[in-house]
Amino acid sequence: MIGFFDSGVGGLSVWSAFQEEAPTLPLLYFADQEYCPYGEKSHDELIDRADKITAFLIAKGAKIIVVACNTATAAAIEFLRNKYTIPFVGMEPAIKTAALASSTKAVGVLATEGTFSGRLFNETKEKYAKGVNVIIQAGKGMVDLVENQLIGTPTSHKVLAGLLVEMITHNVDHIVLGCTHYPFLKNDIQEIVGSEVKLIDPAPAVVRQIKRIIKKENLVFDNNGKYQFYTSNPNVSMFQEQVIHLVHMAKNNRFITCTF
Ligand code: SIN
Repeated sequence: MIGFFDSGVGGLSVWSAFQEEAPTLPLLYFADQEYCPYGEKSHDELIDRADKITAFLIAKGAKIIVVACNTATAAAIEFLRNKYTIPFVGMEPAIKTAALASSTKAVGVLATEGTFSGRLFNETKEKYAKGVNVIIQAGKGMVDLVENQLIGTPTSHKVLAGLLVEMITHNVDHIVLGCTHYPFLKNDIQEIVGSEVKLIDPAPAVVRQIKRIIKKENLVFDNNGKYQFYTSNPNVSMFQEQVIHLVHMAKNNRFITCTF
């Protein structure tokens, strides 16, 4: 089994990018919706949740875990790699791609406060974005837009228009979607910033990394294409509806609620 987890349904943007490329592999997904959003949680709380979810996914048979959440990657991936022997793949900040491709020498990054304060983001920015104006913006309210199925609504447009003003003013030509929920808002963002601004979704790079690690570690899985979706949200039917809506998954997969 390959395990994925996130604060909610955002990590499905990575899960589905992987599932499209490897449709026969068995996948587990855990949405920590009872604790969502992660963006402003303390470092210790994020480590505690990542630890408990990892133990759960390993008990369900995960041989590799994808931390499909930028905030949890920033806070907890080092801890997880030190504690557990299985491999972990985390989210990439993707600033390098944006900075190298920028003609205006101005790029935007949308992410959570937790991601911006992490070492990974700051080191990557320092290393790869020299001479480039990096406009950072905490995506306040964006996770809620996705979790509450408000994609494509006037509410979404209003929230995003406010968040994107500074990037538009600074003439950014690339915007990094630095939280796995944000790719689900791609169309809404694109309508506001215009089609000439390129939005960067880190999922394809993360999928390549998952495949590299599976090969390097010689991990072997059943080719049964079975999917299990777990949530800490007691309302499992709402979760099931969200998953079906976002990644068009058939109802006959397993949707289970579990608390810990
Ligand atoms: C959040 O739950 O606030 C966002 C998680 C992420 O950074 O992907």
